[in-house]
Amino acid sequence: MKKPVFDIDHATRILRNNDLGGYTIPTQGLYPFQWNWDAAITALGWMEAGDEARAWLELEMLLKGQWDNGMVPHIIFHADADTYFPGPEVWGVENAVKTSAISQPPVLASVVKILFEQGKDRALAEQKLAQLLPGVMAYHLWWYRERDPENTGLVCSYHPWESGMDNSPAWDHPLENVPAADWEYTRRDTGHVDAAERPHKHQYDRYIYLVDFFKRNHFDSDLIYQTCPYRVQDIGIISILHRANTDLLVLCQNRIDNDSTRSLQQSSARTAAAIGALWSEDLNCFVSRDTLTGAQLKTISCAGVLPLFGELASPAQAAAINENLGSWIEDAPFGLASTHPHSETFEPQRYWRGPSWLHINWMIALGLDTYGLSERAAQIKQVSKACLANGDFWEYYNSVSGEGCGGGEFSWTAAIALHWLKD
Ligand code: SER
Repeated sequence: MKKPVFDIDHATRILRNNDLGGYTIPTQGLYPFQWNWDAAITALGWMEAGDEARAWLELEMLLKGQWDNGMVPHIIFHADADTYFPGPEVWGVENAVKTSAISQPPVLASVVKILFEQGKDRALAEQKLAQLLPGVMAYHLWWYRERDPENTGLVCSYHPWESGMDNSPAWDHPLENVPAADWEYTRRDTGHVDAAERPHKHQYDRYIYLVDFFKRNHFDSDLIYQTCPYRVQDIGIISILHRANTDLLVLCQNRIDNDSTRSLQQSSARTAAAIGALWSEDLNCFVSRDTLTGAQLKTISCAGVLPLFGELASPAQAAAINENLGSWIEDAPFGLASTHPHSETFEPQRYWRGPSWLHINWMIALGLDTYGLSERAAQIKQVSKACLANGDFWEYYNSVSGEGCGGGEFSWTAAIALHWLKD
């Protein structure tokens, strides 16, 4: 019999240990609240662990933090914890459920579709879908209304944390336009994890400035759009949103009013028409763009491969990306490095500057399959499994050595292992 790649009971135990009663924290200490895209990915794990009700509950809990304007925040502070900075008092959001003031890559609708399709309890699936759909639709309409008020088709992001890829080298230039926070604060992350695996203080000072900036502007969407010193069209968010639009529109058929679906269809079509502006001929890859300077952000990163998942690449672009992936994996053989290993900014252990992240690899493999590039998809799966060889489920993996990095006993890694790498 074929030996399983990892211990399924261990992965399931991680979800149970990180369950704080309806929501799952990503890991103890480092991230003691519910995060947006972590929650979606973790729900896939709950489903695979055979607890369908718990999978749906994860998403219900996430939507408890949804703002009246439709935004689903990137952190929901369901309960107090003193091991994380910046907590709810720094964000200053006064809603009944305390949250951050930015969002995160909206993989939520794509996960809802998977849960709905895989759910064995059909009555539960129908009931939960009906319950969640209006909130998920409001979230997508929010992205386009608030983050693309000029109808360019390309939504923008106000914070590197919103990209989920905090210290990607892609954000180095736009962050230079952001002043440093002018007060002393104590980081908690480097108390949990080796500082060599986390962002630098230079970046944190700017992350915190932006948090203060949103609060100072009373979270006013128009004002922030006009004056935020960081405003980026993030190819990762745009791709994940586009894929999620398609998935959401399938779920909406005969379930939700036509005005919303028509509006979303139009926005989604605008994205597909505009995506060419984020293709870099010289890098043979998609990139993000700083909307304040109009400049493309010339980094070859995993975000630039996500248009395959979003079905936004032309066949020729997909072929060019696929070719690029050859040397990418050869020189950093554990998973797909978050930054191309040939890049000057590549650091194989430092958060989003080079480690590989299994949930991203999953999306990329799905995208490759969609384009018929199944050999490469299988290779991505195989190199992702290689990360689990030591039997642990880390937040991310050193893409050159395969060593686990960041937080341990990590929910989304366990969940993706269960959902994708179990065979
Ligand atoms: N990823 C961020 C952190 O490390 C928050 O979203 O704290």
